[in-house]
Amino acid sequence: MKNLPQIPQDFQDKTVLITGAGSGIGQAAATLFARRGARVAVVDIQTEGGRETVARIRAEGGTAEFFEADLSREEQVESVVARTVAVFGGLHCAFNNAGISPRPGPFHELALTEWERVIAVNLTSVFLCMKHEIRHMLGAGGGSIVNTASGAGFVPAPFLPHYTASKHGVLGLTKVAAKEYARHHIRVNAVCPGVTATPMMEATLAQRPDMKEMLAGTVPMGRMGEPAEIAEAVLWLCSDAASFVSGESMAVDGASVCR
Ligand SMILES: NC(=O)c1ccc[n+]([C@@H]2O[C@H](COP(=O)([O-])OP(=O)(O)OC[C@H]3O[C@@H](n4cnc5c(N)ncnc54)[C@H](O)[C@@H]3O)[C@@H](O)[C@H]2O)c1
Repeated sequence: MKNLPQIPQDFQDKTVLITGAGSGIGQAAATLFARRGARVAVVDIQTEGGRETVARIRAEGGTAEFFEADLSREEQVESVVARTVAVFGGLHCAFNNAGISPRPGPFHELALTEWERVIAVNLTSVFLCMKHEIRHMLGAGGGSIVNTASGAGFVPAPFLPHYTASKHGVLGLTKVAAKEYARHHIRVNAVCPGVTATPMMEATLAQRPDMKEMLAGTVPMGRMGEPAEIAEAVLWLCSDAASFVSGESMAVDGASVCR
């Protein structure tokens, strides 16, 4: 980072692939990793957001490329991982974060198509990303992966059975891979954000403005989290400072789900 020499450059030799990096938590993580010296593969289905993230990083002197992909499609995931390695010469860390927040509704009225859409984007995409990232990392001698789950990965979110199931599933995939690949020097962890002030959350609150105070009231700290606060936890989990941490599901939620 040319403009900010005082910031530690502990990711200087690392390439990080970040999904959903065109907005919210993914964008905050992409910016943070780049400031710490990483080369960042910015992956998103939305061109505008992805390009904006790359522009922000480059404006600060960092290194990033945008790769457009629908991560629920295996051929697109495979291509993004291959292009990341081709452009940057490696893949050391991955933050599988892209996701959608569906409209709440009664369980017994949930359409199969809506169930399948949420599972495809929130769970199948994480499976596909991990599969192709791990293939590369096995050949390269190791790596570190962080997946985004949610408080809904630990506890049920009523009226959101599809979202709840997808995020419980992300924690399951995280733990399986952590066990399977521990001896191959691949660490796999999950971050579980609480209510966080991102465009996803803003879209929800635009439909139900009354929910803002109610949601903040459910957080013991009395406020929503900021995307940068989630990004800091992801950076630490990816870093060598977390070298003995794998299979962990880290809540970053102002003490919301602990018991
Ligand atoms: N914001 C919260 O309160 C909160 C709480 C818990 C968990 N999360 C999780 O955090 C993650 C990031 O959420 P956010 O709040 O930053 O949301 P966001 O909507 O701001 O960002 C999500 C990004 O994912 C991208 N995306 C969606 N579908 C995609 C696909 N098929 N392929 C590629 N990219 C796709 C979107 O284009 C968007 O840029 C999600 O997995 C979400 O479930 C968010």
